[in-house]
Parts: sequence; structure tokens; C-alpha cells
Amino acid sequence: MSFDRTPKIAPSILSADFANFGAEIAAVEAQGADWIHVDVMDGHFVPNITFGPTTCAAIRPHIKTVMDVHLMIAPVDPYIQAFADAGADFITAHVEAGPHIHRTLQAIRAAGARPGVALNPGTPATAVAEVLDLVDLVCVMTVNPGFGGQSFIDMTAKIQQLRTMIGDRPIHIEIDGGVAPGTAKSVVDAGADVLVAGSAVFKGGSVHNPGPYGDNIRAIRAAYA
Ligand code: DX5
Ligand code: ZN
Repeated sequence: MSFDRTPKIAPSILSADFANFGAEIAAVEAQGADWIHVDVMDGHFVPNITFGPTTCAAIRPHIKTVMDVHLMIAPVDPYIQAFADAGADFITAHVEAGPHIHRTLQAIRAAGARPGVALNPGTPATAVAEVLDLVDLVCVMTVNPGFGGQSFIDMTAKIQQLRTMIGDRPIHIEIDGGVAPGTAKSVVDAGADVLVAGSAVFKGGSVHNPGPYGDNIRAIRAAYA
């Protein structure tokens, strides 16, 4: 099957009800989510703590689509096997998280998951030039990681540069942070194909009233269609 560069929406469960992840995932998938984005934060690499591999393993059976795990942790390497064993499809590590991103990405592949590499807003596209052949996904952060609901930072030039660097290689470009109907078109036009969205998908809904999740997803899709 050829590589699918059709734009996809990946709701971040950072904006879901943490006491109800299973039902939240089922609800947002039923409302049209393409992937489920799972934000792991350690209170060290980023100034916030979420959860670790045990929670990822617990929610895995509830994900019918793609489990996209974004590690905002340092160090990464000691925990790769645990996140792979938890059933992550993609495991994305930050290029800023340590001195040996090449080794980290090899280790993710060896553990049986698909490697991704993320770049903070202050990190240039060239920082991942030497590891593109090791990854299935490049994540361009359009906020400084750590919290949902922050304002979008324009990274259009970086996205375009990465799109050119990637060429025909089967590598997704994912955008994470501040994605909403008003920002989605610019990132898709620049070359992104996976749009993470937390607050813009989960706002106004709940597991008891999931309709707004679908309305919100359709509003983002309509913005770039
Ligand atoms: C930011 C996280 C994002 C975040 C996006 O640190 O990596 O995935 O949840 O949230 P919104 O879409 O609300 O900016
Ligand atoms: Zn994320």
C-alpha cells in the first residue's frame, strides 16, 4: 500500500477527562478521530507531569485506530521498551531530550514501534537532517510543550523546509499545539499530514455529550478541505 499523506486528525487526550480515558477514546474515535495522540510528560523535560507506560498499557485496548505516543521526557532510552510493550504504534522522542537521538530512534525501531522525532519551536529543521532515514514521523511543535490550550506559534517556514528535506520518503509531518480551524489550513498547505488537536477537539463535549467532538473535528477538516 502506498504511503498515506491524506491529512489526519489526532485528538490529544491531554484535553480529555483523565478519570475516563477509555470512554473518552471510544467517544472521540466514534466522532471521527483518525489517530489518538498520547502526551507523556515528566515534570523535568517539560514543566508538567501526566502519566507513564502503565497508563498507556491500560488505555491501549480502547484505541481502535493508531496509538501515537509523544514522549516529553528526558532521558528517553530507559523507558522505550516499556512504552513499546504498552502497545504504542508510534513513539516520538524530542531531538532536544538528549545527546544521542540517533541511538534513541534506533532503539524505538528495535523495540517494535515506529519512531518519530519532535522539534521544539526554537529548534531548526536541520537538527533532524541526519536522522530522517530512521523515522516514520517528524513532529513540529507549534507551542512550547507542556500544556494544552496554548496559542499557536507559526512554524510555516520550518514545515515547508522539512517537507522539502523529506521528499518522497514515507515520513509523516505532524503538527502539535494550537491546531484549530483557524490554523489548520496553513499547516496542511505547508506540507503537514497529521494534525494533533487537544482543546480544539474536546471543547464543549463530554463522554455523555460527544456530539461536539464530531462538530469540532469536522470544523478542523473543513478548514483545509
Ligand atoms: C503540548 C502537547 C500537545 C497538546 C496540544 O505539550 O504535546 O499535544 O496537548 O494541545 P492543544 O491542541 O490544546 O494545543
Ligand atoms: Zn503532543
